[in-house]
Amino acid sequence: MRHRLLLALPLLALPILTHAQTAEARVTAPAGARVFRLDGNGVTYALGVDDKGYLRPIHWGAAVAEGDPLAPPIVAEPSSFDPAPTVTAQEYPGQGEGLVTDPGIKVAFADGNRDLVLKYRSHRVDGETLTVELADISQPFFVTLRYTIDPATGVLARSASVRNGGKRPVRIDQIAAAVFTLPAGDDYRLSYLTGRHAAEWTLKDVPVTPALTAIESRRGLTGHANNPWFAIGKTGQTDEAHGPVWYGGLAWSGSFRISVAQDVLGRVRIAGGFNPYDFGWSLKPGETLETPVFYVGYSGHGMGEASRDFHAFQLTHILPEHARAKLRPVLYNSWEATTFDVTEAGQMALAEKAAAIGAERFVVDDGWFGARDSDRAGLGDWTVNPRKFPHGLKPLIDKVKGLGMDFGLWVEPESVNPDSDLYRTHPDWVIGFPGRPRTEARNQLVLNLARTDVRDHILGWLDRLVSENDIAFLKWDVNRRWTEPGWPGASPADQQRLYVDYVRNLYWILAELRRRHPALEIEGCAGGGGRVDLGMLRWVDEVWPSDNTDPSDRLAIQDGFTHAYTPAVMMAWVTDSPNWANTRVTSLDYRFLSAMQGGLGIGANLLKWQAEDVATASKWIAAYKTIRATVQRGNLYRLVSPEASASTSATMYVGRDGRQAVLFQMLHSSMWRDNPPAILPQGLDPARRYAVRMLGGGALPAGVPASASGAYWMATGLRAPLKGDFAGAAFVFEAL
Ligand code: DGJ
Repeated sequence: MRHRLLLALPLLALPILTHAQTAEARVTAPAGARVFRLDGNGVTYALGVDDKGYLRPIHWGAAVAEGDPLAPPIVAEPSSFDPAPTVTAQEYPGQGEGLVTDPGIKVAFADGNRDLVLKYRSHRVDGETLTVELADISQPFFVTLRYTIDPATGVLARSASVRNGGKRPVRIDQIAAAVFTLPAGDDYRLSYLTGRHAAEWTLKDVPVTPALTAIESRRGLTGHANNPWFAIGKTGQTDEAHGPVWYGGLAWSGSFRISVAQDVLGRVRIAGGFNPYDFGWSLKPGETLETPVFYVGYSGHGMGEASRDFHAFQLTHILPEHARAKLRPVLYNSWEATTFDVTEAGQMALAEKAAAIGAERFVVDDGWFGARDSDRAGLGDWTVNPRKFPHGLKPLIDKVKGLGMDFGLWVEPESVNPDSDLYRTHPDWVIGFPGRPRTEARNQLVLNLARTDVRDHILGWLDRLVSENDIAFLKWDVNRRWTEPGWPGASPADQQRLYVDYVRNLYWILAELRRRHPALEIEGCAGGGGRVDLGMLRWVDEVWPSDNTDPSDRLAIQDGFTHAYTPAVMMAWVTDSPNWANTRVTSLDYRFLSAMQGGLGIGANLLKWQAEDVATASKWIAAYKTIRATVQRGNLYRLVSPEASASTSATMYVGRDGRQAVLFQMLHSSMWRDNPPAILPQGLDPARRYAVRMLGGGALPAGVPASASGAYWMATGLRAPLKGDFAGAAFVFEAL
């Protein structure tokens, strides 16, 4: 659908139009315009200024026709306990006039006034971006709201910045990137992603009621517990393939909060931004504070379409440029095989085995540097351990490259062991409150990246490491959260800037490193999936979703993960069995079929593999290479959830050019001589004919024809007769 950002007419207003028109966007501005709308991919987002000067939400959902009567709804005061201003939904309410829902912004002026009332001041349209400026009714305090819609997906990007035009500092206690409003209803349900270390990405849903639900991190980093993503559907209407879904993700990798609640009139208010918990920013005269961007979308066709649109948006607008161009190589990672026991000879032996089965990248994980023989020492000392690598990394890198792979290395730049030369030299570089104990986690402390000298130090050693060695890939890990969030040396008023400046400097280092080394690829990791969000995804090519590598648990992890994020960045390793996480025993075939549903990696101790394991692995890696473009860049259909009570779960990936599709069928466990129903594919072109084959070779199950139309497959379905526990199969459809 054609994309347009237009400023529509208020009801009954006379059209005196000025326009700016481009091929992609149309901007129409009635003189004295009071209603603005953004349209893309069947979605309309509309807002407007009411007769009192408030900027008000009008519509967010299915597209309405051009010229339709969009206007801020009339608000009647329901009772003296809910005065009119408090029930007037605003696009970005200041905390004032007795507001009782989550504000866009809450401040304290220097004279003690904490009443902020924001009204429309001006607007501007630049290409596809609408900018609206609001100002307080008496103080020189300004808020600028930005809105951009993506024509292809209808995903809207919203953010805010505030400027202190006064002569004294203003304390900001709370600031959101955006506030959204959905029409009144008692049938909304909120879905969110939760978990803990090695158990991330569990999808939960709760009814939306007047009791506020906060999806948040107070941990300094995104965290495993709540991901900054939400989706809201309607009870009885919304499922994977049907019904309305409003969804969004916050591009922030620090403490965040997304709050959802019904207001007194039953409307749903969603606010997302920096977490107000322990937040504080003293905004100096003339200073501006920018919020992160909150990306949101709407689908009228269920969770499946919502995620496909969000995935497409991430591929084209969030991920670093070359992540779009290059598919994820099959990597080998040494962590589960060797942990800290990393040596030149041991890694070379693993590299030979990895290359032989078809790996394309060899990654040395933790343990290669400093005095890092365990997690008790060495973190912060980023020089190669001379006992483990007597001639530096070069012999290993040469070996890896000679075997036809590229080389990657693990780093954890943001942390330090107290038992390290770095800490002994710069004990003042860590986060904490002077004179008080600091909680150690995994024997480490958090470096204060908000400090410019710490930021520059980290960039300096990373830049040297990548310049002096032929390194194609860094796995950027962080293995603890914050505990005592003090910034030694900062003034009391500026202490809590830490929450913002740390994350900004983290992005700055990543951006600068990429600028200096454009071919470098980076994996984001935080003890597994502790920092996956749209903020990090702008700077990393892939992420490590979880330290849990059990292939059955991973199916649930991958199901949850893909509700928010694209499989293009979702790495999965085939590791040893029994799995470390839960001692479950599974076949190598099953482990491969599970891991192939994202970016494939191998993390097993290949030195212990038998010849038949090597043959099995070689077969699956070769097979994966024939479908990885479809898996990583295609459209994902979650056909049967692994969380459902069915014994079998299924996912399907359809290439964007429609030429190839892959259906993974995974049996959890057999019961009662199961005869599970056929799995109905989705996303095929009904009119096209497809040949079908088993991924990895082998005969088609009895009764599955070798070719048929998309209509046939989608109407009649197919399945492999899997038996036992933890078995899998995959069908590949190739358009004829
Ligand atoms: C946590 C990561 O998630 C693991 O994959 C591994 O890199 C360890 N850290 C190393 O300390």
